[in-house]
This record gives sequence, C-alpha cells and structure tokens, in this order.
Amino acid sequence: MMPRPVQMCLVLLLLALVPVSCAALPLVINTWPFKKATEQAWRVLQAGGSALDAVEQGCGQCEKDQCDGSVGYGGNPDETGETTLDAMIMNGDTMEVGAVGDLRRIKDAISVARAVMEHSKHTFLVGESASVFAENMGFTAEDLTTNTSLNIYKKWLNANCQPNYRQSVSPDPSNACGPYKPSARLQQTAGDQHINIHTHDTIGMIVINQKGHVTAGTSTNGARHKIPGRVGDSPVAGAGAYADSTAGGAAATGDGDVMMRFLPSYHAVELMRAGTDPTTACKKAITRIRKYFPQFFGAMICANITGGYGAACNKVPGFSQFNFMVYNAQLKSPLQAMVDCI
Ligand code: GLY
Repeated sequence: MMPRPVQMCLVLLLLALVPVSCAALPLVINTWPFKKATEQAWRVLQAGGSALDAVEQGCGQCEKDQCDGSVGYGGNPDETGETTLDAMIMNGDTMEVGAVGDLRRIKDAISVARAVMEHSKHTFLVGESASVFAENMGFTAEDLTTNTSLNIYKKWLNANCQPNYRQSVSPDPSNACGPYKPSARLQQTAGDQHINIHTHDTIGMIVINQKGHVTAGTSTNGARHKIPGRVGDSPVAGAGAYADSTAGGAAATGDGDVMMRFLPSYHAVELMRAGTDPTTACKKAITRIRKYFPQFFGAMICANITGGYGAACNKVPGFSQFNFMVYNAQLKSPLQAMVDCI
C-alpha cells in the first residue's frame, strides 16, 4: 500500500530529502498565464468537484476563451483552413485515459476526451470518426472557423503557403503551395523549426486534490498550417501529459512533433517517483530532448504528490522565460510564476 500524501510529506520532512510544502494541497498548475483556466479548476475543487472535473473544466475554460488562439475553435488553421482539436484527460488513480486527435467540428475537445474514457473501452479516437462519436454522445457539431482563423489562412495562401511543414516534395514547399509529390529526400537542417511561441502552444494542466488524487489534461488546436491529419503530442499519454497518484503529474507544451518522441511527461513522472524534485524532473526531461534537438521550442510543468511543483523550458531565440499558473492551499489567488529557460 502506497503512503498517502500527508504520510509521505512527513516522511520526506523527517528525512529532509527534498524541499516540500506539506500544506500545499490541493494544487492546480497549468502551462502559460491562462489564469481563467486556473481559477475555473480551483472553483470546481472548492465546490467539492473531483480532480477530474477540475482538470476538465479548467482546460475547457481555455477552449471557450480560445486561449492565445492556440486552444479551442477559431485558432491555428491547418493547410486547408480548418481548425481541428487535440485533447486528453488522465486519471492518476485508475490510470484511465481518454483522448481525441484531429477532432473536427466539436468545440469541447477535453470533454469529448473524457467521454472516450468514460463511455468506451478505447483510449484514443481520431478524425472524422471521433467527431461522429462525439455527436452520438450529445456534443454539438458546428463550424470551428472564425474570421480570425480564415484571415490567418488567407494570409498563408497569399504568402505562397509559408511557413510549411512539407519536406522532400515537389514543387519546393519553401516557396510554393501544393499539391505536392514526393521528391529526393533532403536532410533536415537545424534551422527548419517552424513551431515557435507565436504559432504554437497548449494548455496542459495538473490537478491534485486534497486526498492526493492526481489528474492531468491537455487541449490545443495544434500547429498552425499543419498538414491535415497531423496529431501532436498533447493527446498522447506520457507525451502531452501524464498523471499517476503514486508519483505525480507532468504536462508539456511546445513542438509536439519533436517532443512526443521522448514521452517527456512520463519521463518526468518516473523521475519524481524515484525522488527527484519537480523542477529537476522537468529540467531532465527537457535536457533529454535538447540533446537531439537543441533548437526545439518547448516547456514543461511538473508536480509531485506532496504538492511540490516546478517547471523548465528550452532556451531558444525569442523564448528565454516560461510563465505558468499555480494555485494551491497556501495562496489566496492564482500565482503567475516564471522560470528562466535552460
Ligand atoms: N504541443 C502541441 C502540439 O504540438 O500540437
């Protein structure tokens, strides 16, 4: 039987292993300064809602608010001008996960992810079929395009479809629109990074309730001008987020095409399970990716089951600090925290 957070906290304090704050639960922590999402998750907890309800409604708030244009409807259109959504929710008590990728025409992506978890034996549904599932579960289908996303799309078409995620195709994707055919494979260079703080981010949230129940969730509309069908890291358990009530939770934001190859959220949680403090766990997960992709854009948040938390990011031009939100039992209002990237 695993010790619960309060017992664990006493043990850690006695052994003075890591700096922990024993009065820090419940805890809500999320990527970026998406304060209304933090407040909504906290409100749900204070009203007696579960950690799953809190993470769903917290991320759901960002979907409604279209946080930074990178979460929810009307943001980052794909190559055809359509906005599609990725989301995931994870229950760290039961290790159940629900996820959707390339979800079309449905605004409430994280709630559909929860429906996948609760109304199917599957983990991950994608594309048109995920939308049909959502409609069957009572979600409303509607156009996710707005004037904003339409204008972003038109601007891209007028700029010869730049930036562009295609490679080794003809016509040359660095100066021409498709349709494309395969051509001789070219080596990618380090400069080929289109995903950055302006075209890309995600809400990732960890909620730990008073009893130490860890949950995690994500929601995003992915990479701007992505190839239709592209699914990023956010809905992939262990990549976009991970929750385990015996160890902690983590969530990632940034270039999902690169980050998902390293399962950084799973990596960080396993480090915390072994006793690594949250900040170091986040840093180590980022460092692993950086070893292969020094210029990748990305950041992480990490929290352990005693309410300790931390964050880390990879320093690249234009991104040297990462802001995130925290709300816990020691705070009277949500705190916007910041870390310097490594
Ligand atoms: N991190 C979100 C994405 O790459 O889609």
